[in-house]
Amino acid sequence: MRTAVLVPRPPRLPLIVALLAALALGACSKTETSDTAAANPGHASGEYGSGSSAGLPPGNIAAGEKRAQEKGKATGQSCVDCHGPEGNQPIAASYPRLAGQYADYLAQALQAYRAGDRDQALMTPQAKDLSDADIANLAAYFASRKGQLRDLHGLD
Ligand code: HEC
Repeated sequence: MRTAVLVPRPPRLPLIVALLAALALGACSKTETSDTAAANPGHASGEYGSGSSAGLPPGNIAAGEKRAQEKGKATGQSCVDCHGPEGNQPIAASYPRLAGQYADYLAQALQAYRAGDRDQALMTPQAKDLSDADIANLAAYFASRKGQLRDLHGLD
């Protein structure tokens, strides 16, 4: 006597749905590069119609460029005197590159120096007299420059 063995059919539909979802997610994910960061400087640029996440007004890139060249009271130097043209060639290895960095990050750092929450002998005095508008403009300007920042992709 033969016993009918019922082999359940594999659940194809859920598998296909899962595969499609994975493909869709893959298509959405973008790798951040200096190029995409420069093309999309973040909230402080004002391009999203609002201020930064730090509550700043929208930044103005042209005004930031002008401000970055002005000599400050602290040491008689401008931002680019120390951080290099467009914030891309710091004069010492311990000075950070600003070009292509996220605008929100730059603005947050400048606010922290101004408030004294982040304290560094050279940089803190440079931020003391910056207004909210200065910070938003400078952050928008340096973020909009094409940077040479590196992430950890490709490193073992
Ligand atoms: C006398 C040289 C000097 C000048 C002038 C100067 N900086 Fe800096 N800046 C530094 C140094 C050094 C650091 C690193 C400080 C630290 O380790 O916290 C720094 C750090 C920063 C950071 C933090 C970056 C990060 O990756 O965390 C920002 C943003 C910044 N500077 C913006 C400016 C702006 C905007 C100006 C002009 C208003 C300016 N700096 C002027 C020397 C300078």
